[in-house]
Amino acid sequence: MKIFLDSADIKEIREFADSGLVDGITTNPSLAAKTGRDYVEALEEIAKLVPGSVSAEVLATDFDGILSQGRRLAKIASNITVKVPLTWDGLKACRALAGEGTTVNVTLCFSPVQAMMAAKAGATYISPFIGRVDDVGEDGMGLIRDIRTIYDNYGFTTQILAASVRHIMHVREAALAGADIATIPPSVFKSLLNHPLTDKGLAAFLADAQKAGVKIRGT
Ligand code: E4P
Repeated sequence: MKIFLDSADIKEIREFADSGLVDGITTNPSLAAKTGRDYVEALEEIAKLVPGSVSAEVLATDFDGILSQGRRLAKIASNITVKVPLTWDGLKACRALAGEGTTVNVTLCFSPVQAMMAAKAGATYISPFIGRVDDVGEDGMGLIRDIRTIYDNYGFTTQILAASVRHIMHVREAALAGADIATIPPSVFKSLLNHPLTDKGLAAFLADAQKAGVKIRGT
């Protein structure tokens, strides 16, 4: 499974991009607003820093507006993915942009049928918001599983991008459910390797080596 970072903050992205383990970036208007920066300028920097897909979301809601903003965003860099809302106008624009060779991420997906329609419209990625589904007492991971089944039943190649990820269990469950990608906030990314037994085991190895004077000659 690929791991994308869910952030529009260049400082946060820089912190993790060096690891080589960030496969892409997703941004949205709320994340862009938090940075207080010009959105296009921030996207230019992010797209240079991370070679994978960088999702840039339109602000328009009508077909012409989505198409025009999508074309503008796609011009920023070759790795920009245009993010459109899961509405009739959004899916019409998705079809048009995909026809022009632009990769499209259809966002705000909350039902398996919505995801099927996005795939029919030629979406490169579908973003089901698992955390927000859980928040209203429904089954976010069930949504991922249902989309996986529908896409596999009919050979849809749209990639399932599990979004609105809140904790490590979401990452684990999304991987088990067959999501192609999980986009995760920096705080969750940082915690991915956490395990108390790893820390404890490492401390014991180093203490034993020090006690016995074990060394790696030649370093
Ligand atoms: C990413 O594409 C989504 O916009 C994001 O994951 C939403 O996350 P939230 O529900 O925590 O705002």
